[in-house]
Amino acid sequence: MTDATRDFQIAPSILSADFARLGEEVDDVLASGADIVHFDVMDNHYVPNLTIGPMVCAALRKHGVTAPIDVHLMVRPVDQLIGDFIAAGASIITFHPEASDHIDRSLQLIRDGGCRAGLVFNPATPLSYLDYVMDKVDMVLLMSVNPGFGGQSFIPATLDKLREARRRIDASGRDIRLEVDGGVKVDNIAEIARAGADTFVAGSAVFKARNESDPHRYDGVIREFREQLAGVR
Ligand code: DX5
Ligand code: ZN
Repeated sequence: MTDATRDFQIAPSILSADFARLGEEVDDVLASGADIVHFDVMDNHYVPNLTIGPMVCAALRKHGVTAPIDVHLMVRPVDQLIGDFIAAGASIITFHPEASDHIDRSLQLIRDGGCRAGLVFNPATPLSYLDYVMDKVDMVLLMSVNPGFGGQSFIPATLDKLREARRRIDASGRDIRLEVDGGVKVDNIAEIARAGADTFVAGSAVFKARNESDPHRYDGVIREFREQLAGVR
Protein backbone atom coordinates (compact mmCIF):
# COMPACT_ATOMS: atom_id res chain seq x y z
CA MET A 1 0.00 0.00 0.00
CA THR A 2 1.40 3.40 -0.90
CA ASP A 3 1.29 6.46 1.32
CA ALA A 4 -1.24 8.03 -1.00
CA THR A 5 -3.75 5.24 -0.48
CA ARG A 6 -3.21 4.66 3.20
CA ASP A 7 -6.11 5.65 5.40
CA PHE A 8 -5.11 7.17 8.67
CA GLN A 9 -6.89 6.43 11.92
CA ILE A 10 -6.79 8.39 15.16
CA ALA A 11 -7.04 6.30 18.32
CA PRO A 12 -7.34 8.38 21.51
CA SER A 13 -5.98 6.53 24.54
CA ILE A 14 -8.55 6.73 27.31
CA LEU A 15 -5.73 6.38 29.84
CA SER A 16 -5.69 10.18 29.87
CA ALA A 17 -9.47 10.58 30.03
CA ASP A 18 -11.40 11.50 33.17
CA PHE A 19 -12.15 8.03 34.55
CA ALA A 20 -14.96 9.41 36.72
CA ARG A 21 -16.85 10.29 33.50
CA LEU A 22 -15.47 7.63 31.18
CA GLY A 23 -18.57 6.88 29.10
CA GLU A 24 -19.11 10.56 28.41
CA GLU A 25 -15.42 11.09 27.60
CA VAL A 26 -15.50 8.25 25.05
CA ASP A 27 -18.71 9.60 23.50
CA ASP A 28 -17.18 13.07 23.31
CA VAL A 29 -13.94 12.00 21.68
CA LEU A 30 -15.76 9.88 19.09
CA ALA A 31 -18.21 12.70 18.35
CA SER A 32 -15.14 14.91 17.85
CA GLY A 33 -13.91 12.70 15.00
CA ALA A 34 -11.81 9.94 16.56
CA ASP A 35 -11.88 6.61 14.71
CA ILE A 36 -11.19 4.02 17.39
CA VAL A 37 -10.91 3.83 21.18
CA HIS A 38 -7.49 2.79 22.51
CA PHE A 39 -7.96 0.90 25.79
CA ASP A 40 -4.81 0.47 27.91
CA VAL A 41 -4.79 -2.51 30.26
CA MET A 42 -2.00 -2.52 32.88
CA ASP A 43 -1.55 -5.15 35.59
CA ASN A 44 1.08 -3.75 37.99
CA HIS A 45 3.24 -6.76 37.06
CA TYR A 46 4.19 -6.58 33.39
CA VAL A 47 4.18 -2.78 33.76
CA PRO A 48 4.40 -0.72 36.96
CA ASN A 49 0.86 0.67 36.81
CA LEU A 50 -2.67 -0.58 37.25
CA THR A 51 -5.62 0.48 35.10
CA ILE A 52 -8.82 -1.01 33.78
CA GLY A 53 -10.06 -4.45 32.80
CA PRO A 54 -12.79 -6.28 30.88
CA MET A 55 -15.62 -5.03 33.11
CA VAL A 56 -14.90 -1.48 31.99
CA CYS A 57 -14.82 -2.54 28.34
CA ALA A 58 -18.19 -4.27 28.76
CA ALA A 59 -19.54 -1.18 30.51
CA LEU A 60 -18.55 1.01 27.55
CA ARG A 61 -20.39 -1.34 25.18
CA LYS A 62 -23.42 -1.28 27.48
CA HIS A 63 -23.22 2.51 27.53
CA GLY A 64 -23.67 2.41 23.74
CA VAL A 65 -20.16 2.70 22.32
CA THR A 66 -20.18 1.07 18.87
CA ALA A 67 -16.77 2.23 17.58
CA PRO A 68 -13.92 -0.30 17.48
CA ILE A 69 -12.28 -0.81 20.89
CA ASP A 70 -8.54 -1.39 20.54
CA VAL A 71 -7.43 -3.29 23.65
CA HIS A 72 -3.71 -2.95 24.40
CA LEU A 73 -2.79 -5.64 26.92
CA MET A 74 0.19 -4.73 29.08
CA VAL A 75 -0.25 -7.82 31.22
CA ARG A 76 1.40 -11.16 31.91
CA PRO A 77 0.11 -13.81 31.35
CA VAL A 78 -2.19 -12.88 28.47
CA ASP A 79 -4.47 -15.80 27.53
CA GLN A 80 -7.08 -15.56 30.30
CA LEU A 81 -7.58 -11.85 29.67
CA ILE A 82 -7.79 -12.39 25.90
CA GLY A 83 -10.87 -14.54 26.51
CA ASP A 84 -12.30 -12.06 28.97
CA PHE A 85 -11.88 -9.13 26.55
CA ILE A 86 -13.42 -11.07 23.66
CA ALA A 87 -16.48 -11.61 25.87
CA ALA A 88 -16.40 -7.94 26.91
CA GLY A 89 -16.77 -6.64 23.36
CA ALA A 90 -13.21 -5.85 22.27
CA SER A 91 -12.62 -5.38 18.53
CA ILE A 92 -8.82 -5.50 18.37
CA ILE A 93 -6.60 -7.16 20.99
CA THR A 94 -2.85 -6.64 21.03
CA PHE A 95 -0.32 -8.09 23.46
CA HIS A 96 3.43 -7.94 24.06
CA PRO A 97 5.04 -11.12 22.67
CA GLU A 98 7.49 -11.51 25.55
CA ALA A 99 4.49 -11.65 27.92
CA SER A 100 3.08 -14.78 26.26
CA ASP A 101 4.61 -18.25 26.52
CA HIS A 102 2.90 -19.30 23.28
CA ILE A 103 2.62 -16.35 20.93
CA ASP A 104 1.11 -18.28 18.04
CA ARG A 105 -1.60 -19.71 20.26
CA SER A 106 -2.42 -16.36 21.86
CA LEU A 107 -2.81 -14.78 18.41
CA GLN A 108 -5.03 -17.63 17.31
CA LEU A 109 -7.17 -17.30 20.45
CA ILE A 110 -7.87 -13.67 19.54
CA ARG A 111 -8.88 -14.45 15.98
CA ASP A 112 -10.93 -17.47 17.01
CA GLY A 113 -12.88 -15.09 19.22
CA GLY A 114 -13.72 -12.92 16.22
CA CYS A 115 -11.32 -10.07 17.07
CA ARG A 116 -8.40 -8.67 15.14
CA ALA A 117 -5.04 -9.69 16.61
CA GLY A 118 -1.80 -7.78 17.05
CA LEU A 119 1.65 -7.81 18.59
CA VAL A 120 3.13 -4.87 20.49
CA PHE A 121 6.82 -4.05 20.41
CA ASN A 122 8.51 -2.15 23.21
CA PRO A 123 11.29 0.21 22.14
CA ALA A 124 13.93 -2.52 22.62
CA THR A 125 11.85 -5.50 21.47
CA PRO A 126 13.00 -6.82 18.07
CA LEU A 127 10.61 -7.07 15.13
CA SER A 128 11.88 -10.62 14.57
CA TYR A 129 8.98 -11.80 16.74
CA LEU A 130 6.94 -11.29 13.55
CA ASP A 131 9.00 -13.76 11.54
CA TYR A 132 6.74 -16.81 11.76
CA VAL A 133 3.38 -15.22 12.54
CA MET A 134 2.90 -12.61 9.82
CA ASP A 135 -0.15 -14.56 8.62
CA LYS A 136 -1.72 -14.37 12.08
CA VAL A 137 -1.48 -10.63 12.80
CA ASP A 138 -3.87 -7.88 11.76
CA MET A 139 -1.97 -5.14 13.55
CA VAL A 140 1.61 -4.31 14.49
CA LEU A 141 1.88 -1.80 17.33
CA LEU A 142 5.18 -0.06 17.96
CA MET A 143 5.64 1.54 21.35
CA SER A 144 7.37 4.89 21.01
CA VAL A 145 7.72 5.14 24.81
CA ASN A 146 8.27 2.51 27.46
CA PRO A 147 4.83 1.22 28.41
CA GLY A 148 3.19 2.08 31.70
CA PHE A 149 2.34 5.76 31.65
CA GLY A 150 0.84 8.47 29.49
CA GLY A 151 2.51 11.80 28.89
CA GLN A 152 6.05 10.58 28.03
CA SER A 153 8.20 11.85 25.14
CA PHE A 154 8.35 10.12 21.76
CA ILE A 155 11.56 8.07 21.36
CA PRO A 156 13.04 9.14 17.98
CA ALA A 157 14.55 5.71 17.16
CA THR A 158 10.96 4.54 16.65
CA LEU A 159 11.00 6.25 13.23
CA ASP A 160 13.58 3.82 11.81
CA LYS A 161 11.74 0.91 13.40
CA LEU A 162 8.50 2.10 11.79
CA ARG A 163 10.20 2.15 8.39
CA GLU A 164 11.36 -1.42 8.95
CA ALA A 165 7.91 -2.54 10.12
CA ARG A 166 6.33 -0.85 7.08
CA ARG A 167 8.79 -2.67 4.82
CA ARG A 168 7.89 -6.02 6.38
CA ILE A 169 4.15 -5.36 6.14
CA ASP A 170 4.33 -4.25 2.51
CA ALA A 171 6.54 -7.24 1.63
CA SER A 172 3.94 -9.57 3.17
CA GLY A 173 1.23 -8.19 0.90
CA ARG A 174 -1.19 -8.54 3.81
CA ASP A 175 -3.73 -6.11 5.19
CA ILE A 176 -1.95 -5.28 8.47
CA ARG A 177 -2.34 -1.98 10.32
CA LEU A 178 0.80 -0.26 11.66
CA GLU A 179 0.00 1.55 14.89
CA VAL A 180 2.24 3.78 16.99
CA ASP A 181 1.73 4.50 20.68
CA GLY A 182 3.38 7.07 22.93
CA GLY A 183 4.23 10.73 22.68
CA VAL A 184 2.25 11.34 19.48
CA LYS A 185 1.53 15.08 19.16
CA VAL A 186 0.35 17.51 16.49
CA ASP A 187 3.95 18.53 15.83
CA ASN A 188 5.30 15.01 15.17
CA ILE A 189 2.37 13.08 13.68
CA ALA A 190 3.27 13.91 10.07
CA GLU A 191 6.84 12.65 10.49
CA ILE A 192 5.51 9.48 12.14
CA ALA A 193 3.10 8.94 9.26
CA ARG A 194 5.87 9.45 6.71
CA ALA A 195 7.85 6.72 8.49
CA GLY A 196 4.99 4.32 7.78
CA ALA A 197 2.41 4.42 10.58
CA ASP A 198 -1.29 4.45 9.68
CA THR A 199 -2.90 4.32 13.13
CA PHE A 200 -2.03 6.86 15.80
CA VAL A 201 -2.60 6.47 19.52
CA ALA A 202 -2.69 9.76 21.37
CA GLY A 203 -3.60 10.08 25.03
CA SER A 204 -2.40 13.26 26.66
CA ALA A 205 -2.34 15.17 23.36
CA VAL A 206 -6.08 14.61 22.95
CA PHE A 207 -7.45 14.69 26.48
CA LYS A 208 -5.44 17.75 27.51
CA ALA A 209 -6.86 19.60 24.50
CA ARG A 210 -10.53 19.92 25.38
CA ASN A 211 -12.12 22.73 23.36
CA GLU A 212 -12.21 25.92 25.40
CA SER A 213 -15.66 26.91 24.15
CA ASP A 214 -17.25 23.47 24.62
CA PRO A 215 -15.81 21.11 27.25
CA HIS A 216 -17.47 18.14 25.55
CA ARG A 217 -15.54 18.57 22.33
CA TYR A 218 -12.04 17.53 21.32
CA ASP A 219 -12.43 18.33 17.64
CA GLY A 220 -9.79 21.08 17.60
CA VAL A 221 -6.88 18.73 18.21
CA ILE A 222 -8.35 15.96 16.05
CA ARG A 223 -8.76 18.42 13.17
CA GLU A 224 -5.14 19.52 13.63
CA PHE A 225 -4.00 15.88 13.47
CA ARG A 226 -5.92 15.43 10.22
CA GLU A 227 -4.54 18.62 8.75
CA GLN A 228 -1.03 17.39 9.47
CA LEU A 229 -1.80 13.98 7.97
CA ALA A 230 -3.35 15.52 4.86
CA GLY A 231 0.08 16.90 4.01
CA VAL A 232 1.70 13.46 4.12
CA ARG A 233 2.42 11.84 0.79
C1 DX5 B 1 1.47 3.80 27.51
C2 DX5 B 1 0.15 3.55 26.83
C3 DX5 B 1 -0.27 4.62 25.91
C4 DX5 B 1 -0.47 5.98 26.55
C5 DX5 B 1 -0.07 7.00 25.52
O1 DX5 B 1 1.88 2.64 28.14
O2 DX5 B 1 0.21 2.34 26.07
O3 DX5 B 1 -1.40 4.25 25.14
O4 DX5 B 1 -1.77 6.22 26.97
O5 DX5 B 1 -0.14 8.26 26.12
P1 DX5 B 1 0.50 9.54 25.45
O6 DX5 B 1 -0.17 9.76 24.14
O7 DX5 B 1 0.19 10.61 26.46
O8 DX5 B 1 1.97 9.28 25.30
ZN1 ZN C 1 -1.44 1.85 24.61
